[in-house]
Amino acid sequence: MNTSARRILITNALPYANGPIHIGHLVGYIQADIWVRFQRMCGHEVHYVCADDTHGTPIMLRAESEGITPEALIDRVHGEHVRDFRDFQVCFDNFHSTHSAETRSHCEAIYAELNKAGLIVKRDVEQFYDPVKQMFLPDRYIRGECPKCHARDQYGDSCEVCGTTYAPTDLINPYSSVSGATPERRSSEHYFFALSSPQCIEFLQQWTRSGTLQSEAANKMAEWFGAGLQDWDISRDAPYFGFPIPGTDGAKYFYVWLDAPIGYIGSFENYCAREGVNFDEFWRAGHNTELHHFIGKDILYFHALFWPAMLEYSGYRTPSQLAVNGFLTVNGEKMSKSRGTFITAESYIKLGLNPEWLRYYFAVKSNGTMEDVDLNFDDFIARVNSDLVGKFVNIASRCAGFIERNFDGRVQNPELWRQDDVLRDIRARANDIAGWYDTRDFARALRAVMECADALNRLVDAEKPWELVKQEGTTERLHSVCSRALEGFRLLALYLKPVLPATAQAVEELLGLSPMTWADVDKHLSPEQRIVRFKHLMTRVDARQTTALVEANLATLAKPTAAAANAGSQGADAKVVKPKQKTNTESAGEHISIDDFMRVDLRVALVKSAELVDGSDKLLRLVVDAGGEERQIFAGIRQHYAPEQLVGRNVVIVANLAPRKMRFGVSEGMVLAAGDGEGLFVLGVDQGASPGMRAR
Ligand code: 2FM
Ligand code: ZN
Repeated sequence: MNTSARRILITNALPYANGPIHIGHLVGYIQADIWVRFQRMCGHEVHYVCADDTHGTPIMLRAESEGITPEALIDRVHGEHVRDFRDFQVCFDNFHSTHSAETRSHCEAIYAELNKAGLIVKRDVEQFYDPVKQMFLPDRYIRGECPKCHARDQYGDSCEVCGTTYAPTDLINPYSSVSGATPERRSSEHYFFALSSPQCIEFLQQWTRSGTLQSEAANKMAEWFGAGLQDWDISRDAPYFGFPIPGTDGAKYFYVWLDAPIGYIGSFENYCAREGVNFDEFWRAGHNTELHHFIGKDILYFHALFWPAMLEYSGYRTPSQLAVNGFLTVNGEKMSKSRGTFITAESYIKLGLNPEWLRYYFAVKSNGTMEDVDLNFDDFIARVNSDLVGKFVNIASRCAGFIERNFDGRVQNPELWRQDDVLRDIRARANDIAGWYDTRDFARALRAVMECADALNRLVDAEKPWELVKQEGTTERLHSVCSRALEGFRLLALYLKPVLPATAQAVEELLGLSPMTWADVDKHLSPEQRIVRFKHLMTRVDARQTTALVEANLATLAKPTAAAANAGSQGADAKVVKPKQKTNTESAGEHISIDDFMRVDLRVALVKSAELVDGSDKLLRLVVDAGGEERQIFAGIRQHYAPEQLVGRNVVIVANLAPRKMRFGVSEGMVLAAGDGEGLFVLGVDQGASPGMRAR
C-alpha cells in the first residue's frame, strides 16, 4: 500500500434527476463512500463529488406530464437526492447538477477542442419521428406488436412475452407511446465523435493496458475492440432538454451522455471555487493527483471508451481508475416493482431501518470485482445480528459498564496489558485490512475484522467478567480483562469506521477519543480518558422490518407508472398513450374488488369557468362546483376543447385525488375523459344529475 500522502478526486455515477434513489443505486455509492472514508482516515487529500444527471428526453417529457418546467423537476429531485445521500451517510463534498454554468462551459470547451482535432464528423441519421409531438423519439418510446408472438404493446427492442429481440422497425403497427401517433422515419443531420478513428483506437488500446481497469473490465474492452469501435452520435435534435450545440442556432443539442460525465468536472469546479482547491491540479495532465470514477457495470462502455478518448483529445487528464460494481439482486432475482424489491432509500429510512445495517451488508458482499451483489433478507438479518450486534457491539456491552461503575471509567495501566497476545494479533492485522480496503475488497477486510471480534469474545468468555465482579480478590483481573476487551473494541471500531461512521463516532464518545484515524492503530486506551456510561450502540434487525419494507414498496410501486416502464433507466412519468385501434379492443386488465372501486370518489361537477393557461399548450384551468365546494382543476384538454365549450356543463371528476402542485397552481381533482391519442372526449352525465352526486 502507498503510505505517502496521495491527492485523490473521487466521483460516483450521476443519478438521473427524475427518479428516486433506490437500494440498487446505493451499492455503488456506499462502496465509493467507504473507500473515500478509508482514504481520509489514512490522511490522504480526498475530494469526493457527484451531481444530478439532468438532461435528456425522459426528463423533458416527465416535466411536461407534471405540468412543470424541467428546471422545477430537477430542482425538486435534487433536494430528494441530497436527503437520501445524507441519510445513508454518503459524504459528498459537493453534489451539484449537470444543468450548471460550469458543466456547460466545459462541455462547449471539450466540443470545440474535439472539433479542432478533426474528431467531430457529421452524417445523416434516420430515426423515428412523432408527427403529433413533432419531435424525434428515442427507440424506447416506440411500441407495437411483437413480430414473433404478436403480443401487443411491446417495447421497441424486445418482447417481454416471448423474449425475442428485434429492431424497433420490426414492430408491427408501431406507435409512439408519447402521443399514440404512428411514427415516421425521418432523416436529420447528427454530429458524431470519431471514436473509430485510428488515433482514438490506438490511444484506447494503450489506455486499457495502463492498469486503470479491473481485469473483467479489461476483458470487456478487448471484446469491444474485437467487434470494432463505432463513431458515437453526440447530438439530438430540438426539442430537447440540454445544452445547445454552439453554431447550430438551437437546432441541435448535446446528447445527455456527452454532458453527463462532464458533470464530474462541472461539480468539481463548483467545489473548487467554494473551497479554494486548485482545479487544474486534478483535471489537467502532469500533476501528481489521482482521478477515480466509481460506476456500475451498465455504464462501463461510456466511461471506458468515450470518456477517456474525449478527455485525451480535449486537453484534460484521463482517469487513474474505474471502480466498477455489479448489479444488485434481491433474494437472487432482479429488483422488481411487482415483488416490492425495488426499494427506495426513502422508504428504508422512513420505516426506521438503520442505514449502517445496509452499509455493512453491502460491504460484506463487495469484493472489488464486477460481480453482482445479492441482498438476501434472511442473510441480511443473520449477518447484521450476528456480526454487528452479536460479535462487535457485544464486546463493549459486556465490558464497558464494569469499567464505568467499578473503576471510575478508567482502564487499567496499559503497561500491564498492552502486549497481550490477542491485542497484538488484532493490531498486526491493520496492514492487511488497510490493503483490502484500498483494493476495495471490503468482504475480506470485514472477514478479518470479525475474526478479531471472535478472538476478543473468546477472551471475555474465558475470563467471565460478570463472575469476576462477584468474587473476592479478582478486582485486578476484572480490570485487566475489561481494559483489554475495550482496547480490542477500539481497534475493531477503527477498522469498521469507513463502513459504520455513525457507530464509530458513538464509540469515540463512549471511549472519550478524538476522531480516529488509521494511525491510531498504534495508540491505545489510557486511564487519562474516561469511559462514559454505555449506551446501546446498535439494535438487532427484526424480520418484521424487512417484511414491512417490501410491503411498503409493493404498496407504492407495485403498479409501475406507465412512464417508468416506458423510459427504462430514465423512467419518466409521461403516460403511455396507446393508438386508437389498440385501445378499443384492450383487455380490461386485472380485476379489482368493489371495495377498490369504491375508494375512488367520482362526483358530478359543474364547470363554472374555464380558461387557457399561460405557458401551457396542454392545460385548461377549470373552476368547478363539486357540490357546495369550488375546486380548481387543471385539465390536459386544451388541444381538444375551447374553454367556452365546457362552461355550464356537468362533468365527472375524481374528487379524492391527492391535490397536485403544478407550476400554475394546485390542481384539486381530475376531469374524466375518454381518449385514444387522436381524440379526447370529456365524460358527461344525463340530465337531472346535480353537482356533488357520487357516481358509482
Ligand atoms: O446510468 C445512469 O444512471 C447515468 N445517469 C449515469 C451517468 S454517470 C456520468 F457519466 F455522469
Ligand atoms: Zn413476442
